[in-house]
Amino acid sequence: MKETIAKYIEEIRATRIEEFKDRAAEVEQFRIKFLGRKGVMAELFEQFKALPNEQKKDMGVALNQLKAAATAKVEEFKNFVEQAEETGESHDLTLPSDFAPRGSRHVLSVVMNEIADIFARIGFTVEESVEIEDDWHLFSALNFPHDHPARDMQDTFFVEKEEGKTEVALRTHTSSVQVRVMETHKPPIRIIAPGRVFRNEAISARAHCIFHQVEALYVDRKVTFADLKQTLLYFAKEMFGEQTQIRLRPSYFPFTEPSAEMDISCNICGGKGCNICKGTGWLEILGCGMVDPNVLDACGIDSKEFTGFALGMGVERMAMLKYQIRDLRLYFENDLRFLHQFDNII
Ligand code: DAH
Repeated sequence: MKETIAKYIEEIRATRIEEFKDRAAEVEQFRIKFLGRKGVMAELFEQFKALPNEQKKDMGVALNQLKAAATAKVEEFKNFVEQAEETGESHDLTLPSDFAPRGSRHVLSVVMNEIADIFARIGFTVEESVEIEDDWHLFSALNFPHDHPARDMQDTFFVEKEEGKTEVALRTHTSSVQVRVMETHKPPIRIIAPGRVFRNEAISARAHCIFHQVEALYVDRKVTFADLKQTLLYFAKEMFGEQTQIRLRPSYFPFTEPSAEMDISCNICGGKGCNICKGTGWLEILGCGMVDPNVLDACGIDSKEFTGFALGMGVERMAMLKYQIRDLRLYFENDLRFLHQFDNII
C-alpha cells in the first residue's frame, strides 16, 4: 500500500496542466480520479480500514500526504484555469524558459577588438570613417604618384571614374583615415582606424575582395623611429606572447619615409622553421614607417614642427596566425562549424 501511495504522489507531482487539452474538463477528471466518491482516496481509505492497528499510524500519515498533495494540485489547477480566463492567456510564468541559443562574436571582431584594446592601453583612441572615398583621401594626399599601380582598375573598385571628375572608390586601405584625421585634428594625434577595405582581387584561400585592416597613426613633436619600434615590440608581445621577437626590413610605401615591414618570430614553430613561416622562422605582419613630410603638409600639419609614425596591418592575417586558420574564405562563408570554434573567446 505504501508503494501505491508513493506512486500516486509522484503521478500528482508530474501532472502538468499545460499538457491538458480541454483544461477545465480535465481538471475535473483529475479531481474525480483522486478525490471523487469512488476515487483513489476513497478506495485506499477502504483498504486502510482493514489494516491491522499497528500499521494504521504510519499509513494514516501517508494517506494524509496523498490527500494534501491531490487537494493542493486541484487548487493550483483551478487557479490556473481561472487566471487564464481572466487574462485571456494561459502562460505559466513559473515554467523554465525555452533554450535560446546564444550567438558569439565573429573571430575577426574578436581580433579587431583585441588590437584596439592593446593600442588603447598606450593611449590610442579609435577613429572610424567612410568606406567610399575620393581620390584625394585614398591616394593623392598620401603621396601616391599619378601612375601608381594601386590606382589601377585591377586593384580598385571605382564608384565613379569619369574624365575630369573626382574619382570615387571603395577604400583600398584604411590609410585614408589618417588623412581625414590629420585634416581635422591638431597634433598630438594618437589614433587607430579599424575597418573594412575592398580590392578587386580574385577570391582564393590567400586573397579576398573584402578584408579588414587596422591603421595606427601617431603625430606629435619629436616622434622618432625609436618610438615606432618600441610600439611595434609592445604590440607584438601583447598580441602573440611575451616570447615574441620582431625584426624590421626596409620597404617602400608612398606615404612613409623611411618605410619598413615588420616580421615576428614564428609563433607556431618558435622560430625553428615550419611550413607556416616557410622555413624562415619569421612571419610577415605589417607595414609601417615615419609619416612622409609631404603627407603631413598635404593634410595641413607643419612638417617642420611635427613628425609621426604610421602602421597598417591586415586583421584576417592576424587571426590566421593567432588561430591557425588556413583559408581566408572561411571568414565570410558563415559556416557554423567554423564559427562555433570561436564561441568561447571574447
Ligand atoms: N596601407 C598599406 C596597405 O594597405 C598598409 C600600411 C603600410 C599602412 C605602411 C601604413 C604604413 O600606415 O605605414 O598595404
